[in-house]
Amino acid sequence: MYTLITGGTVVSSTGSGQADVLIEDEKIVAVLEPGSGVLGATFLQGVDRRIDATGKYVIPGGIDAHTHMEMPFGGTFASDTFETGTRAAAWGGTTTIVDFSVQYTGEDVLERFAAWHDKAAGKCAIDYAFHQIIGGVDDVSLAAMDTLIDEGVSSFKLFMAYKDVFLSDDGQIVRAMQRASRNGGLLMMHAENGSVIDVLQQQALERGETDPIHHGLTRPWQTEEEATYRAIRLSELTGAPLYVVHVSAKQAAMRIAEARDTGQNVFGETCPQYLWLSLEEQLGAPGFEGSKWVCSTPLRARVDGHQEHMWQALRTNDLQLVSTDHCPFCMKGQKELGRNSFAAIPNGIGSVEHRLDLVYQGVVTGKISLSRWVEICCTTPARMFGMYGTKGVIAPGADADVVVYDPAGRTRISVDTHHMNLDYSAWEGFEIDGHVDTVISRGLVVIDDGEYHGHAGHGKYIRRGLSQYLI
Ligand code: URP
Ligand code: ZN
Ligand code: ZN
Ligand code: ZN
Repeated sequence: MYTLITGGTVVSSTGSGQADVLIEDEKIVAVLEPGSGVLGATFLQGVDRRIDATGKYVIPGGIDAHTHMEMPFGGTFASDTFETGTRAAAWGGTTTIVDFSVQYTGEDVLERFAAWHDKAAGKCAIDYAFHQIIGGVDDVSLAAMDTLIDEGVSSFKLFMAYKDVFLSDDGQIVRAMQRASRNGGLLMMHAENGSVIDVLQQQALERGETDPIHHGLTRPWQTEEEATYRAIRLSELTGAPLYVVHVSAKQAAMRIAEARDTGQNVFGETCPQYLWLSLEEQLGAPGFEGSKWVCSTPLRARVDGHQEHMWQALRTNDLQLVSTDHCPFCMKGQKELGRNSFAAIPNGIGSVEHRLDLVYQGVVTGKISLSRWVEICCTTPARMFGMYGTKGVIAPGADADVVVYDPAGRTRISVDTHHMNLDYSAWEGFEIDGHVDTVISRGLVVIDDGEYHGHAGHGKYIRRGLSQYLI
């Protein structure tokens, strides 16, 4: 089965140009001179399907390296299953997710990993891989890290917050980092000082401050910066590469930049919510409305310039990529759990469907270049997490994960039209310059012309190698 995408501008992380893309079954087999017929008329008569991309961008499928489908958290479960969440991702031009298998304190890592496989198997519309959350560092879980690398899980997330649930103390962090420095794994860090936050939360609640905005006010930037700095120093001490997830404070991004400037293998991601939304406008919305935007790290004050700094850091490669941290909770029955106390609002925002569109607005507004958009949404995630070559690039031999993006199209984000299993949109009313027209996942057209043609079970598990991004 041959598919030929003609007339488009192929955009890569290093540049762009007119080219046609030939796909055979699940793989890209050639990138051709536009309309060249290089392969000869006879051969091209054998093309089963042509996709006209005239006036549009042809980019590698998006990779969202941070999602939480069906994650048990805050007394409930993230509302997207692997089935609904990967379908929504496909609608937005994402063709691979890296989700987090979760070990809570006291659980067995490999048992939980097997359970995560069971949840995802046969359900996904697009390809998927796993990171492993280690919520209890001990001899058994440390040994499991070696086993997991053989299973294609080369990155491990630790938490410096959420006591008795996830939190690792500094000694545990050092032990996990020592292990990663030996086995080649990448240590991912939720960098917030949890014991300080717990005290600030308690004091706020004692003062009767229960509104959602206090979620942000009790997680001030110092708690993120301090934890980020501590993680960087422990990474230096142990020689383990470090990847800081969901960076929102400019001071934390600055610590990451400093570490990178000294040659350390330290990396960071930010998320669309930290690029576009703020503490004042969203988290501080009247009444309980702000609960829609309760996530950790929290949205930051626009008056302090965090959002603009995140764009700046992406521009200069102080931060390497954008993931969504997709962890949706419905208002009804989920966010509602925290009506009487911000501390009981499940933490998370749903954006898996909107990442390419939201980051593309940075191209439209001149914050980043077209190639940088592709780099931070598609190519770097593949390199960072050991999938590059197969994923993240339009080149012969790569999986045929391709998006045709129309820069002249328009997309209006709304709960009425999104495909996530979520009863509100954190992005309600956002007007996007640009539109995901066609999405191909390993050769299968899953989205075309506003229609879904995919199916649960098309997506397969990707065994990742070690990071290809290390210095
Ligand atoms: O609020 C968030 N980020 N929820 C998901 C869990 C995490 O810490 O990434
Ligand atoms: Zn986290
Ligand atoms: Zn997360
Ligand atoms: Zn159709």
